[in-house]
Parts: sequence; C-alpha cells; structure tokens
Amino acid sequence: MKNILIATFSILLFVQCTTAIIEPTGLVMENAMVVSAREEASKIGVEIMKKGGNAFDAMVATQFALAVAHPSAGNISGGGFMVYRKDNGDIGSLDFREKAPLSAHKDMYLDSTGTVIPEMSTVGATAVGVPGSVAGALAVHEKFGSLPLSEILAPVIALAERGVVVTKKQEEKLAPYKEIFKRVNGENGKFSKEYVAGDTIKYEALAKTLRSISDHGRDGFHKGEIAKKLANFIQENGGYVTVEDLENYKAVWREPVLFDYKDIKIISMGPPSSGGVTMGQIFKMIAPYNLREYGHNSAKTVQLFTEASRRAYADRNYFLGDPDFVEIPMTELLSDTYLKERMSSFSFDKATKSSEIERGSVEILESMETTHYSIVDEEGNAVSVTTTLNGNYGSKLYCDELGFFLNNEMDDFSAKAGVPNMFGLIGAEANSIASEKRMLSSMTPTIVERNGELWLVVGTPGGSTIITAVAQTILNAYEFDMSMQDAVNAPRFHHQWLPDMVIFEPEGFSDVLKAQMQDKGYIINEDRTPIIGKVDAIRVLANGKLEGGADKRGDDAAAGF
Ligand code: GLY
Repeated sequence: MKNILIATFSILLFVQCTTAIIEPTGLVMENAMVVSAREEASKIGVEIMKKGGNAFDAMVATQFALAVAHPSAGNISGGGFMVYRKDNGDIGSLDFREKAPLSAHKDMYLDSTGTVIPEMSTVGATAVGVPGSVAGALAVHEKFGSLPLSEILAPVIALAERGVVVTKKQEEKLAPYKEIFKRVNGENGKFSKEYVAGDTIKYEALAKTLRSISDHGRDGFHKGEIAKKLANFIQENGGYVTVEDLENYKAVWREPVLFDYKDIKIISMGPPSSGGVTMGQIFKMIAPYNLREYGHNSAKTVQLFTEASRRAYADRNYFLGDPDFVEIPMTELLSDTYLKERMSSFSFDKATKSSEIERGSVEILESMETTHYSIVDEEGNAVSVTTTLNGNYGSKLYCDELGFFLNNEMDDFSAKAGVPNMFGLIGAEANSIASEKRMLSSMTPTIVERNGELWLVVGTPGGSTIITAVAQTILNAYEFDMSMQDAVNAPRFHHQWLPDMVIFEPEGFSDVLKAQMQDKGYIINEDRTPIIGKVDAIRVLANGKLEGGADKRGDDAAAGF
C-alpha cells in the first residue's frame, strides 16, 4: 500500500512538474522575437525577420546593430559563440572567439624577472586579440542566411548614421572611464568627451566600415583596406595583430555540449568556452536533489547550488582551454560517476572548504562586460549568441578612423600560472598563451529542449558569473515555475571556488537566510558586484507563443511580432 501511495504521489508530482501553467509576465509575441541589450538592436533583428529573414539573418543584423547601439560590449572587433537549434531539431554551435596573434608566446606579458607587467594584457593595443566577430557573423550568413547581406546591413548602417541616444544607464557606465579613455586615446578621442543621457552619438566611421562589410563580406574587414588600417593602427599603438592575423582568422563550427537535467535537455557551448561543461557539471551534481521542495533561493537550494558550483569551478581552470591545443577529458568531467564522487563530501550541515577541493584555481570579480542576445523566428529556428570585447569597452582603445573599440581579450589567457588576470582568474597550463590559440571563456549561450521541443533560449554577460546566472535562470523556469521575465529578474547569487565566498546581489536575500548560511561556515559577500549577469532569454509557451525575458538590470529589451 505504501509503495502504491508513493508511486501515485510521484506520478502526481511528475504531472505537476511538467504541466504547471505559468502566466507570462514579459512581452508575449505570436511569431518571432529578439531579446538583446538594446531596443534598437532587438528591433533591427525583428525588422529583418519581418522582411522574410530567418533567425540566422537576424543574428547577423543584431550582432552588428549591437556594435552600434551598445559599444561597451557589442562589437565587430571582439568575438563570441553561437548555439543554434533549427526548427527540425538540428543543433550546432559556432566558435568565433578571438585568437592570440601569430607572434604571441607564453611569456609575452612578463618582464625580464618573470613578473606580469601591469595593464599590458588589459589596456591599449598590447591587449588586443585577433577579432572573430565579423568572420563569425558572415560564417553564419554563408551557412544559413536567406537574405542578401546588403539587405541585412542596411538598417544597421542607417542606425550608425542616424546615431543612438545615450540612456541614463549608459551615461553612468561611461562616466568612470572618461580618464582612461583620455589616457589611451588622447584628449580628442571620440569617447574622451562626456556624454549624458539624451545625447545622440553618431557613428559615421563605423557606418563606413559596415558598408565595406556589406559590399565585400568577410574580405571587407579581414582583408584589403580595412584590415591594413586596423593592423597599422594596432601596431602603431604598440600591439601585435598583423594583416596576416586578420586574413588567417577562421570561425569554427563545433559540437555543442549536451546534457540532460531531469526531463529537460540542455544544449550549450563547449571549449574554448567553459560555459557548457561547467554548467553541465553543476546541473548533474544537483540533479539527485529535490530543489522544488527546498524552494527558490531557500537556504538549502543556495547551499546545494553553491557546493556544486564550488566543485565545478575548481575543475574549470585546471582542465579547460582551447580544444585545438589541449586534451580535455570531456567525457570524464561530465560523467555521473565522477560527479557523484565529487559531491560525496557535501553535507547540508556545513560548508565544504575550498581549500579541501582540489583542481582548478579561480577567482574574480569585477563587472565585466559582454553581451547576449536570444532569437526565435517564425519557423521555430533558435539562436543563442554571447559576444564580448572582454572588459567594459574592451582595451579602451578606440579606432576613430574605423569607428570601434578594440577588445582586450588577451587577458582571458593565463599570463602566468598562479597570477590572477583582471578578473582574478588564476589560470593553469591548459589556458597559457600560444600563437594562434583561443583564450578560455565563460560565455554560455544555451538552448533548452523540453519534451523534445524548443523551450528556452538563454544567455548573459558577467564573466565567470555567466555560468551560474544562466543555470539559475533555467532552474527558476524549470524547478520554480517562474515566467521567463520573472526567471530573468529573480535575484542571483554566485560561488566559484576561489575566493571562497558566496556573492549575493544586494537585493532579494533575507538576513535570516544569510545568517543560516554563516552559521554553516559560509563567507558572504554582497559588495563585490551590484548585479550578477544581465540575462536575455525567450521561452516558448505551451500555446506556441513566445515570452521574452529582458533583464531589468540593464537597458535590455524584447521585440517581436
Ligand atoms: N571575456 C569574458 C569571457 O569570455 O568569459
């Protein structure tokens, strides 16, 4: 009898888990949607789909529109990753991560005593990696695009010429960088002056560069006039990227990382991003527990997630790097047996100490600027793209002639084993610098299937907090029955092994919860970052409509039709 009752209860619970009706609270659209960091970019992506373009055409438009509307992270001189799922269920991913220049070598940021030279991998031309965003967007267009490139880029060029209005949040983001922009670019640089909310910034030089790409495709940036100007500019400022580097760059189609969590399938980015593997480890470590019963952001849920994150991040830096250069034990890292063993030291009674967990060595934290956009088209094709310049406004070096900021992605390498980079990440050999190698990333563009159908498209900026922010958004939707918008807005927390502390967003976690955690030995930090990620996501509702989740933490916006 007891067994029958348990079985009945389990069936009821399962039915409840899979059929809960969740009222949307974000923008709902019938057919197609883009959610990105700026309304202007989301609207351009939607405009392209209204003209008959698919999600991949919209990806190209949104990527370039963000380079105009969101210059702190949107880019044509950075890099990124795309995960896609076509309407027929085919999946894949594209790596357009930046690379080290041909001349790069392991000790390039060390002085004669072997000490890391301050700012060399973070500020100015020496920090610039070979950009991949143009090659990436054009590889997407070549493989899946349906509209001519000129048609896709026309509204982006028009936006650059018309200009973009500075928002209050953008004004606040620009202000602290004024002095460093002057130091790097001189008094007369485009961003050396002050912009306030309501100003319109026009990007005529960028419009010209975009026109070259529109006319000549990949070669309009990676070869010819623009490549020569870009390489000269970087070298005149002391950097290493050459015309040969720009010509050689290739985006790479890679297998995505796939794993199940209970009855959902998660499709995410593999190395050189750590996102998919690290998130997979976290999900597999928490899967045996009943988070739904513990409750959203309850002490038990926070503790369990923290302990799984601690262990996953401890592996991250030790094992992960560019798969074209290092052997990564993917199967082992994601094996149930290994991860069960990893959690064998976990107890709800007290915190594990990071000093007792071997492998890896990760620290961060500053607000680091990357950007994410999610797209679903009328056919049901979905793309999830995260792209970055690394730091806010990348290296701070702005090429006035070509109209864009240059990345400082070289800092995502480990300049020297054991020495933290700008975000405190302490790398190992797997992520050391080598000629033409890709630096390790945390970007986690992700797509989730439920019952074999497209369910969520999700991702975020936030450096190493990207992985935990994406995982918590998925859990909010799946375990805690939140609408897409609520799942995105919900307060987030983060732990990444080292420093051994739980970082909470300042709003949304009670003193009681924090006291419970402290009693168990957790060190709590609420000061390091006011926000953890800015998630932009789309959910397919039970009736087939789309709900956007545009993060309230930024100027993010959903648009659709
Ligand atoms: N630059 C941030 C990342 O790739 O994770």
